[in-house]
Amino acid sequence: MSDATEEKTLGTLAGVDLKGPYHSLRVARVVDESQDARSIVLEVPDALRDLFTYQAGQFLTFRFEVDGKKLVRCYSLASCPNSESEHKVTIKRIQDGRVSNWVNDTLAAGHYVEVMRPAGLFTLQNRGHRVILFGGGSGITPCISIIKTALATTDRKIRLVYANRDEASVIFGRELADFEKRYPDRLEVIHRYDAVHGFADAAAVRGYVGADTDADFYICGPGPFMDVVESTLLSMGVAREQLFIERFGSPGADVASAPASAPGSATAAEGGATITVVLNGSSHEVPWTSGETVLATARKAGLEPPFACEEGYCGCCMAQVKEGAVDMKANDCLDRSQLAEGWVLTCQGVPRPGKLRIQYPD
Ligand SMILES: Cc1cc2nc3c(=O)[nH]c(=O)nc-3n(C[C@H](O)[C@H](O)[C@H](O)COP(=O)(O)OP(=O)(O)OC[C@H]3O[C@@H](n4cnc5c(N)ncnc54)[C@H](O)[C@@H]3O)c2cc1C
Ligand code: FES
Repeated sequence: MSDATEEKTLGTLAGVDLKGPYHSLRVARVVDESQDARSIVLEVPDALRDLFTYQAGQFLTFRFEVDGKKLVRCYSLASCPNSESEHKVTIKRIQDGRVSNWVNDTLAAGHYVEVMRPAGLFTLQNRGHRVILFGGGSGITPCISIIKTALATTDRKIRLVYANRDEASVIFGRELADFEKRYPDRLEVIHRYDAVHGFADAAAVRGYVGADTDADFYICGPGPFMDVVESTLLSMGVAREQLFIERFGSPGADVASAPASAPGSATAAEGGATITVVLNGSSHEVPWTSGETVLATARKAGLEPPFACEEGYCGCCMAQVKEGAVDMKANDCLDRSQLAEGWVLTCQGVPRPGKLRIQYPD
C-alpha cells in the first residue's frame, strides 16, 4: 500500500486542522512492549503543546477508523510529564477487541491519528503519604506515569503490586527494574502472576499492604482485581479519600447491556417528545423521555454514539448543541470556551424540553 493510500485509510491527513475536539497528531514511532502490547509515541506540534499539557495518570481520547467505522477509545499516558518530552500511550490487545488489535497490527510511524487533549481525574495527588499502586495488565499505564512522576518530583515511598497473567505479559518490566535499581530505598515492585500465584484475593491484598493503611492507593486493572483490592482496603479501615480508581471501559465491552433496538425502530416516548441526533453525518429524530440523557436516548434508539466513563470526565461522548439547550449533571472535562461553543457531555446532558438538535463530531 502506498503512503498516501495508507494515510487515507487512517482517515486523517497531515496538517489538516480538524474541526471540533480532535487534533491530528503524527505517530513518531511505535514500540513493541510485550507479546501483546504496543506503545504509540505521538508528536505534539508546538502550537498544541499547551493544550496537550497533562498530569501523571491522565489519558488521551482517540478516534480511529477501523473497517470503515469510527471508534472512540481512551488510552492512558504512560509517559512522565515531568521528565519526558514525548506523549506515549500503550495499548494491550483484548481478545476480539476492534481497536486494540487494529493498533497492534496496523498503526505505524508516520501515520496520523485523531486525538483529544488530555483528561482524567486519576492523577497523582499532592500529598505526603506513601503511594501504593495496584496495577493489573494494561492498568499499569497510568500507574507507571504516576510512579515516574512521584519519583521525579517527590520523596515519597512507592510500592507497586503488578498483576499479570504470566511473566511474558508484563509491560515495562525492564523500565520498572531500572527504576528499582535507581531508587532502592523508595520503590518496591511486587510482581504477581495468575499462572503461578492464582488471582489476588483479600488475604494477598492484606499482605501487600501490611501496616501501611495510611498510604494513598491507586488502583487500575481488570474489574474483578480492582473489586477485590477496593473492598479489602475498605475492610482494612482505609478511607475512601485515600483510594484513587481508574476503570478501563469500552463501549464494546458492555454491548450486552446496551439497549437493543435498530435505528429508527424505537417507539415514541410518552408525550411524543423527540430530539434530533446527528451522528456520522446522518440525522436521526429519536424519541426522548423527560429526564433522560442524550447518550441514553441515542443508544435506546439503536444508535452507537461514542462513550467510555459515563461519569463526565473522559470527554469521549462530546457533542455540540446546534439548537435548543442541555443541562449537564456533571462536568469534569469541558472548559469554558468549549461550553461557550455549545459542546456538552452527552452522558451527563439532559435536554431541556423543547426542540434539540445535537451533533457528534464528524
Ligand atoms: C480512561 C481509560 C483509559 C484507558 N487506558 C488504556 C490503556 O492505557 N491501555 C489499554 O490497553 N487500554 C486502555 N483502556 C481501554 C481501552 O479504551 C479499550 O477499551 C480497549 O483497548 C478495548 O478496546 P477494543 O476496541 O480493542 O475492544 P472492543 O471492540 O470495544 O471490545 C471490548 C470487549 O468487548 C467485547 N465485544 C466487543 N464487541 C462485542 C459484541 N458485539 N458483542 C459481545 N462482546 C463484544 C470484546 O470481545 C472485548 O472483550 C482505557 C479505557 C479508559 C476508559
Ligand atoms: S462518557 Fe466519559 S464524559 Fe461522557
